[in-house]
Amino acid sequence: MKKVVKKAVFPVAGLGTRFLPATKASPKEMLPIVDKPLIQYAVEEAVAAGIDVLVFITSRTKRPIEDHFDKAYELETELANRGKTDILRIVQNILPAHVNCVYIRQAEALGLGHAVNCARSVIGDEPFAVLLADDMIDDGQTGCLSQMIGIFDEWQCSVLGVERIDPADTHSYGIVRANPIHQGLGKLEGIVEKPKPEHAPSNLAVVGRYILTPTIFDKLDKVTRGAGGEIQLTDAIAALLHEEPVLAYEFFGKRYDCGSKLGYLMATVEQGLKHEELRDSFKAYLAKLSLD
Ligand code: G1P
Repeated sequence: MKKVVKKAVFPVAGLGTRFLPATKASPKEMLPIVDKPLIQYAVEEAVAAGIDVLVFITSRTKRPIEDHFDKAYELETELANRGKTDILRIVQNILPAHVNCVYIRQAEALGLGHAVNCARSVIGDEPFAVLLADDMIDDGQTGCLSQMIGIFDEWQCSVLGVERIDPADTHSYGIVRANPIHQGLGKLEGIVEKPKPEHAPSNLAVVGRYILTPTIFDKLDKVTRGAGGEIQLTDAIAALLHEEPVLAYEFFGKRYDCGSKLGYLMATVEQGLKHEELRDSFKAYLAKLSLD
């Protein structure tokens, strides 16, 4: 019987040091791009791909994420009393009714692999997705995860979302070596976490989208601390590919690295230019700015 991906893991326990002091008391995942927090873009992408269980791996100071996806009685009553029905609808429809959230605390920041392993009891024996909200991807359609689930449906094995990057930047990513199957799809032959450019097997980088089979949990149990002294998901994937096929899929769409200030600003400007309410006035403002 064909397996389907219904659960997604969102590792959101990171400190967000690159955005301090903005992230001193609030999660980096709650930074807004125009009028929605980063985490909501990732959640919407997952829901559009058919995911109905969202597993957040959280830590101290991440409570606002739970509140964001919860009912807000006072606010909703207030908006209803004031007749602000449009905004009320937006606030009430952040998640469709059939979608459930699970929150698991990662007590220590031991790395992405450790965070994913914290979801084991909720995921069980099913394939699942991992989305890193820092990587915001806009494909103008149903989203990157939908594309990847299309690949999973056909191949029934783990799929990593990859992108060609500047060879000088390999030290910021998991880098793969893949054997082309056809345009945009390759079979993974190797993967290494944050190699220096001179040691990188290619310039194909894993971005924050994964579909993994549950075998990954056995591998995560066995990996020891890797790059940066952390339990790396990349190292568990390197072990997985000796046992099962793993695919590297070059998705289409634009990725914004919202973990960096520049990427965050780019996403803000470009999403602002697409925003129904702001599009025209923002465009006029930017045009004026470049003339000044
Ligand atoms: C993580 C992964 C890395 C991946 C990257 C994508 O790194 O460990 O393999 O390429 O996400 O954004 P981080 O950016 O959390 O250091």
